[in-house]
Amino acid sequence: MPQADVIIVGGGLASLMTAYCLHEHKNVIIFTKTKPEESNSWLAQGGVAAALSEQDHWSYHYEDTLVAGAYHNDELAVEVLVQEGPKRLLQLIEAGLRFDADESGRFHLGKEGAHGQRRILHAGGDQTGKAIVSFLLEKLRGRVTIIENERITDLIVHHGRCVGVRTKKSAYYANAVVLSTGGCGTLYSFSSNAPTVTGDGIALAYRAGAAVTDMEFIQFHPTMLYVNGKAVGLISEAVRGEGAVLITEDGKRLMEHVHPQQDLAPRDVVARAIHGEIVKGHRIYLDISMIPNFAERFPTIAGMCESYGVCIENGKLPVVPGAHFLMGGIVVDLWGETTVPGLYAVGEAACTGVHGANRLASNSLLEGIVFGARVAEALRNEGQTAFAADGAKELNTNPFEKPLPTKEEIQTMMMQHVGIVRDEQSLTTAKEWFEQFSIAELVNADLGSLDEEEMTIVCMLITGWLITTSALERTESRGGHYRLDHPHEVEQWRKRRLERRKDELVAKIGGRR
Ligand code: SIN
Repeated sequence: MPQADVIIVGGGLASLMTAYCLHEHKNVIIFTKTKPEESNSWLAQGGVAAALSEQDHWSYHYEDTLVAGAYHNDELAVEVLVQEGPKRLLQLIEAGLRFDADESGRFHLGKEGAHGQRRILHAGGDQTGKAIVSFLLEKLRGRVTIIENERITDLIVHHGRCVGVRTKKSAYYANAVVLSTGGCGTLYSFSSNAPTVTGDGIALAYRAGAAVTDMEFIQFHPTMLYVNGKAVGLISEAVRGEGAVLITEDGKRLMEHVHPQQDLAPRDVVARAIHGEIVKGHRIYLDISMIPNFAERFPTIAGMCESYGVCIENGKLPVVPGAHFLMGGIVVDLWGETTVPGLYAVGEAACTGVHGANRLASNSLLEGIVFGARVAEALRNEGQTAFAADGAKELNTNPFEKPLPTKEEIQTMMMQHVGIVRDEQSLTTAKEWFEQFSIAELVNADLGSLDEEEMTIVCMLITGWLITTSALERTESRGGHYRLDHPHEVEQWRKRRLERRKDELVAKIGGRR
């Protein structure tokens, strides 16, 4: 009977950080359905936000996070993120992680949407995620077991406690299971996410009875490179941080009169402005002509443009928004514990509430680092659990044999009806479409007979249905959830909340700002 102290599902940054902080104390197995190099973390371009400069302070980062999050954030989680973030980063830097810096070692700090300060650390220009994941993989080599290309088909729950995982090949038991499977961007036909990111952890957790929340809050990144009717890859917000601006077909600035922060407004605002033009049949471009040495500063983006035949020398990149990040997810406390004992979640799959209704740019790698370390700390103190593996409960013995849709059908449904803007009619259409696939049965059935592709589709169906039904329930517009039939509440609400929060913040930090 294969056994570990801790099983971590997923191979991105939050998973590796948890393992890095835990491996000296516990025997850890990491499962990934492909490999760590195929995670969203690996693709992350922008960087890691942290108040490290002399002009900055955690309270500024805190406030920017709340404003971007439309004050839907769990404020304690935000405090943890912005206060522990710099400390954790400095520990990693001390252990050998390198960020881009000048000759005297001063970090090149970038700026991204809705940040009031330059506070984004980056590595290899636009290869920050790859740099951190490679660093952690190197540190973990030979110290934890990483099982690649093995998908978890179910969590094993026994007497209400999660005691392991099941794969096609075997059952593996552990004192604790950590889901770090990322979000669900690939549920949409336009997405910045790795193709592997299909809501798997959320579906697994939901099937095991764990609570999920805030699924309606989907962030669309404003600038994906748009080629031949497809969103082919991310153009980092750091590009706009260096001065690039969005322009219309006739060269006018798109964001000039839309928001005081213009091209660096919160992502939901920028994505909606672009979407509004696209549905009218117009094209939007990112003007990069003012950025010197573009290919040197953004080698990944320059390489992507080249491979799709988009000439950066023209200075105009065609863009479209794409699904980027899920703010909701599996409900966890500040130590990553879900509502099912023995089951933890971390990173994008989890919802601490830290991102509110809309994540602040470059807070996600930071989240993986901070909360990965916290989950590890919680698990270090976790004792042995006595369980009888023989009696482990199966979800259901009824195999699921009904027809399933294709991935593309789910992606089109989500993009058209549960996308950047929604309303009751579009969401009802989507809900009815999902429910023809017997979601309740899917949540409870034995899926053991399904192949890899069918398992992915089941996870996409469960997660898509959760997003759709949550979006129907929230009859207001807030952050990444914009209801055309309830459009105006947000502004009034934002202003009311902003005034109250400013007073609270000043009282809390002694007027430091
Ligand atoms: C970007 O580089 O624009 C994405 C970074 C992020 O989502 O935080």
